[in-house]
Amino acid sequence: MFFTVLTIFPEMFDPFWAHGIIRKAIEEKKILTSTINIRDYARDRHQVTDDRPYGGGSGMVMKPEPLAGAIRAAAQTVPEAKTVLLTPQGQVFDQRMAQELASWDGLVLICGRYEGVDERVCRDLVDYEISIGDYVLTGGELAAMIVIDAATRLIPGVLGGDQAAEKDSFSDGLLEHAHYTRPRIFEGREVPEVLLSGHHQEIEKWRLESSLMRTLLKRSDLLQKKTLDRQEIEILKKWHHVIKSLIQ
Ligand code: ADE
Repeated sequence: MFFTVLTIFPEMFDPFWAHGIIRKAIEEKKILTSTINIRDYARDRHQVTDDRPYGGGSGMVMKPEPLAGAIRAAAQTVPEAKTVLLTPQGQVFDQRMAQELASWDGLVLICGRYEGVDERVCRDLVDYEISIGDYVLTGGELAAMIVIDAATRLIPGVLGGDQAAEKDSFSDGLLEHAHYTRPRIFEGREVPEVLLSGHHQEIEKWRLESSLMRTLLKRSDLLQKKTLDRQEIEILKKWHHVIKSLIQ
């Protein structure tokens, strides 16, 4: 996967490329990355990338020419790459989208700044618009990092065998189960006995119950959307009986 980021602040990405799983993915050539400074494609002497909006109003708009130049330069490196604009008006990013992006060959991420991007660029040169949530950031850079981070960890071979992504929260419509590590007793609180038992089937059952419970308590909206399997229905029925007996 080739990520190309178009931004007026390329230096914001230097620490991002240099740490953790992203750094390892770059070193192991699972991902290739580059940043293009949109300013380099500005035609005027002062390398201006914004201008006042036609029709008046507050704020500035990203000029089309530098952005178009940067997008075309990125397309020369990876012609099959899809172009994504980070904007609060885009489709809201989720795990399913991260999975889809992780299967693409190349992604050009355009980080908008100011009040927005000239509409002609959005219409003619952008394949997708992605938002990371219903709030407004000062620019698309942090959003681009989030998208790159979430997609990269799903690329085969990026996470080690013991960090597999299949059990991630959201990957099967549930939040992930609770986790514990040493010490066995921390400030008087013990690790659940079953996790020390070595009994894999029982551990898997406990983890499923933990996942279901956390999803019910923290994100019941996810359960409404999910198609439950037989085992999950049995667990919910068991709780239903317990709760019913408590309130009777
Ligand atoms: N740029 C500004 N706000 C954003 C958001 N919520 N998502 C993606 N890009 C943005």
